[in-house]
Amino acid sequence: MTEQPHTHTSGPQSIMIAVIGDIHDAWDQEDPKALQHLGVDLVLFVGDFGNEAVDLVRAISTLDLPYAAAFGNHDAWYTATPWGTKNCPYDRTQEDWVAQQLDLLGEAHVGYAHRTFSELDLSVVGGRPFSWGGPDWRCAGFYQDRFDVTGFADSTARIVAAATAAPSETIIFLGHNGPTGLGDQAEDPCGKDWKQRGGDYGDPDLRDAIATTYSTGKRVPLVTFGHMHHNLRHTQTVLRKRLCVDVNGTVYLNAACVPRIVKTEQGLHRNFSLVTLQNHQVTDVKLVWLDAEFNIASSETLFTRSDELVPSSTPIIPAPVLPSLANE
Ligand SMILES: [Fe+2]
Ligand SMILES: [Fe+2]
Repeated sequence: MTEQPHTHTSGPQSIMIAVIGDIHDAWDQEDPKALQHLGVDLVLFVGDFGNEAVDLVRAISTLDLPYAAAFGNHDAWYTATPWGTKNCPYDRTQEDWVAQQLDLLGEAHVGYAHRTFSELDLSVVGGRPFSWGGPDWRCAGFYQDRFDVTGFADSTARIVAAATAAPSETIIFLGHNGPTGLGDQAEDPCGKDWKQRGGDYGDPDLRDAIATTYSTGKRVPLVTFGHMHHNLRHTQTVLRKRLCVDVNGTVYLNAACVPRIVKTEQGLHRNFSLVTLQNHQVTDVKLVWLDAEFNIASSETLFTRSDELVPSSTPIIPAPVLPSLANE
């Protein structure tokens, strides 16, 4: 018997969110149909659509479902660094593909902004757009020029301002990269898996913004992101931890299952991370692969919560703490 993808059972309080991990050009006309078939209430894109893939972003912008999106480092691939501008395939005096992508998504892009879904009683707040991750402030000229942001403290303030301005009491944070604090091993959700492996490559500004948002009394059921692909570079096998929970119950989900569309003998299979929210709490997270008929070919439960009991296999981490002023 085929498993039914839609598991809503308890009325309007139950919300199903599809998180679309790093697309890297793997998105086609079947994806909107698959999302309709799944019956999701909200779609979240973590960015890395392609390398400044304007046409793909245009296709995303036509999605006929509530959605919000972050942009990733690859979405400013030819713009954010000197290497990128040197290898840029288009005439930069005539065109600006980063600006085109931002224009296409408009208010659906939540970097340093929020988008509120009042019918779902939640706001989605974006972290730093186009993040490469890591403890150093990179692409300083790009952030100065495009966003008037000069460093981590500034960036934190912009994210906090977006969360504060968001009218909902329930905030979902959406970033390309996750926050600092999820572990410093290569296999941790934001762990560095290249060169000298190891080290926490999360975004410190996102961590600080989450901590500040907690302190204002808002609920943060979910922080979701991509960037650090599930297949670790040094092993090319799935070893990365994709989810952890902090002591406040916030679920941190890395959705970057790349490539997200694969060819099989039965046709194309595509993945989605599915998050169920009940009463403003994450109750279930799955990574599913749909076959060409949109049946669930495989489903992996990453998290389930019943009666406040978190399974013992889920890593529990401390909640982000407010940065002390001395560190500013
Ligand atoms: Fe990526
Ligand atoms: Fe990325």
